[in-house]
Amino acid sequence: MKLQGKIALITGGGTGIGKATALLFAREGALVAVAGRRESKLGETINAIQKNDGKAIYIVGDISKVSDTKRIVNETVHKFGGLDILVNNAGVFKGNKITDTKEEEYDYIMDINLKGSFFMCKHAIPEIQKRDGGAIINIGTALGIKGYRGYSTSAYSASKAGVIMLTKALALELAPYKIRVNCVCPAVVETEMFETLGIPKEKIPERMKMWEAFHPIGRNGKPEDIAHAILYFASEDSSWATGSIFTLDGGVTAG
Ligand SMILES: NC(=O)c1ccc[n+]([C@@H]2O[C@H](COP(=O)([O-])OP(=O)(O)OC[C@H]3O[C@@H](n4cnc5c(N)ncnc54)[C@H](OP(=O)(O)O)[C@@H]3O)[C@@H](O)[C@H]2O)c1
Repeated sequence: MKLQGKIALITGGGTGIGKATALLFAREGALVAVAGRRESKLGETINAIQKNDGKAIYIVGDISKVSDTKRIVNETVHKFGGLDILVNNAGVFKGNKITDTKEEEYDYIMDINLKGSFFMCKHAIPEIQKRDGGAIINIGTALGIKGYRGYSTSAYSASKAGVIMLTKALALELAPYKIRVNCVCPAVVETEMFETLGIPKEKIPERMKMWEAFHPIGRNGKPEDIAHAILYFASEDSSWATGSIFTLDGGVTAG
């Protein structure tokens, strides 16, 4: 098992990529804390883990509030006795033309995607420093690396480009403490995120089909595709990797 006895905190662990990562980490022997705003979703994740004899807790919190980021870390450490791995996965997507973007929408995206990840790091790092090395994995996106004609994603793209540079800056700052910081950047992954975009629910499968062609490899990603990459960066398999911006996108950013 790749994470035997390690303590991992995953934001947004109630759904999608975060949930798949939580289940995989638990199968690999980690004690897993998941955090998010919806208690019912977090409960489903930890029930699934506990059903397979894994150890998991959930913490309800909103990472756009700095006080919650501190409490999420503190509760994890209090319940499990430390922290080795932080996965900054919680995020929101909204695509809008800049001329149609209201200040509230900009703040909502930035406060969760960038500020939330920043302050999760701020509060987790002193705890990880108490251990014998550790790992932080941030979730970026192909849209944080490259622009796509016909898509209006300026606020989201800017927030995730911030996450990418946060990764690189922290990788250097934390290398002396044996804390590795890496970023996984997916393209379209089939998750609940697409239910938040205002696309009618019955149209989502059609839209997903259309996006398949967007990927040179001919399919969208599955949450498990991303979870395996996050596991790689969380485990000793990647002990020489820090500051990596790892595209996992069916070839979208290759061309
Ligand atoms: N799906 C894709 O195509 C795709 C592509 C590239 C990158 N990503 C990134 O992958 C990450 C995971 O997204 P996903 O696709 O798995 O979508 P998802 O299923 O919607 O997951 C997002 C998670 O973040 C949590 N979250 C959102 N705002 C939060 C807040 N303020 N505080 C705490 N938790 C919060 C949500 O839970 P609550 O609503 O209960 O808080 C949810 O569990 C995101 O960072 C996203 O930007 C996704």
